[in-house]
Amino acid sequence: MSSDQYTNPQSSHDLLWWQRGVIYQIYPRSFKDTTGNGIGDLQGIIERLDYLNDGTEASLGIDALWLSPFYPSPMADFGYDVADYCDVDPLFGDLATFDQLVAEAHRRGIRIIIDYVPNHTSDQHPWFIESRSSWDNPKRDWYIWRDPKPDGSLPNNWGSIFGGPAWTLDETTGQYYLHQFVKEQPELNWRNPEVREAMMDVLHFWLERGVDGFRMDVVGLLIKDAKLRDNPPNPDADPNLPPNDLAGRLLQVYNQDQDEVHEIIRDFRRLLDEYQDRCGIGEIWFELPRWVKYYGENDDGLHLPFNFRLMQQPWQAQAMRRSVDELEAALPPFAWPNYVLGSHDSPRLASRFGGQAQARVAAMMLLTLRGTPTLYYGDELGMENGVIPPEKIQDPQGVNLGAERTRDVCRTPMQWDAGPNAGFSDVEPGSGEPFDGAQDRPVEPWLPVSADYATRNAAVQSADPTSMLNLYRRLLWYRRGSPALYGGDYQPLDAGDADVFVYLRTAGDERRLIALNFTADHRRISVPGEDTGQIVISTHLDREERVSLSDLELRPHEGVIVEL
Ligand code: GLC
Repeated sequence: MSSDQYTNPQSSHDLLWWQRGVIYQIYPRSFKDTTGNGIGDLQGIIERLDYLNDGTEASLGIDALWLSPFYPSPMADFGYDVADYCDVDPLFGDLATFDQLVAEAHRRGIRIIIDYVPNHTSDQHPWFIESRSSWDNPKRDWYIWRDPKPDGSLPNNWGSIFGGPAWTLDETTGQYYLHQFVKEQPELNWRNPEVREAMMDVLHFWLERGVDGFRMDVVGLLIKDAKLRDNPPNPDADPNLPPNDLAGRLLQVYNQDQDEVHEIIRDFRRLLDEYQDRCGIGEIWFELPRWVKYYGENDDGLHLPFNFRLMQQPWQAQAMRRSVDELEAALPPFAWPNYVLGSHDSPRLASRFGGQAQARVAAMMLLTLRGTPTLYYGDELGMENGVIPPEKIQDPQGVNLGAERTRDVCRTPMQWDAGPNAGFSDVEPGSGEPFDGAQDRPVEPWLPVSADYATRNAAVQSADPTSMLNLYRRLLWYRRGSPALYGGDYQPLDAGDADVFVYLRTAGDERRLIALNFTADHRRISVPGEDTGQIVISTHLDREERVSLSDLELRPHEGVIVEL
């Protein structure tokens, strides 16, 4: 195991906001409803900005928001099927509300990152409506159309990630179009220069409106094999896959991650670089050697290809250390690391990693590793997977591939308080007045509020000094004041117990030791070469004391930050 020190080439005070800051993902449908229709909206986000960062330690203390899509959409994939890239769906508000959100966020020092969905549009996008109208429509080539094989079968064997084939026949013109998600998400043809230009215009539109960055949806899928060759079978496919999971039975070789995609990403980056301080983030799931290429060869790619690797490991100290060390070793010198532990596509952190107790250890790890952390709304409360009755499943992945695959579980309404609908949707429909129960029942939110909302919510946890929320606040505000944590070097340490992940973060004279006990037992570690230190944060939020580092006891599920 290497014990290399991974060094930050810039000094901490030169770092940009997306390097030193913490990103918080909001799924707008589920955050705060101000119209009483059971669906969250942009006005709701504006109203809760103070919760996110009001400049004091009573707020969470995040630096940037990433908003999942709010564009006009038929909602076949809840906004990831965009019918107009340059507007706001009336469900969420309008462009004026968006501008107000940007202004209100910026006033608080919060940056706004928006979702950019370049791989596919909605089938209701005017471009696709034109494209499918006839063979010779000028937009025909904006999407990926192919003839059936001579025997009438599909153009190739690719499967949709949401089940079934990746091709749907258009009866009018007799050709198939490609869609690697639902059939309502036809894929744009990024080999066509007009598509590139139109989609660059979209970035331009939002940059001019003052957004600080983009999270680019499945950006590694933009270019497919020029010959659209069949994907080879996946020898390791789970034999119990649902029969319609065709994609799961194949290796994803020709449908994604083609070298030419980097040319497009370089174009994105050139545009971002024309503006000051903007950030390009990409959703990239590939293996490390392919993934790392998305930073570009010479700092000309994405600023941050999202790093989901920690979510894919077993919850063990050495697995985490290995993942972090492999990442650090693979990064080119200009590349800035980042870590993600939760998103709108994955089971909840508190349901995935050994429950609530280890979710606190996860929080400390995420907020003390070297690199930009991305938090997912509600994880700061320890929100768990929602229980979705089969008839209430919304997510196409759950509808098509079975209840256990539904992503609805991590999209349930934010739990603000113990009031109606957890405070998520607590106004009279239409009027915006607080729901008073006089006339009727509060609206039913688009996904059920989790049963634990009366006790697990932001209001209750704000008042509880040792709650998960207060742990997140403490970690975020401490991090903000610590160059070692937000910008320093990282060095893993062997401290005598393989179940405790121990590392050092340093910047100049500032040295911080982090020790994370991944077990439910008491553990003792011995930090080589160190005598004593001061515990400043324990995940239990109940001790701040001077301790011996040659024999440091950690309680079950305890992580600590120690000032050396
Ligand atoms: C990305 C999004 C996911 C969406 C898919 C298709 O993976 O994160 O939510 O369903 O792309 O746009």
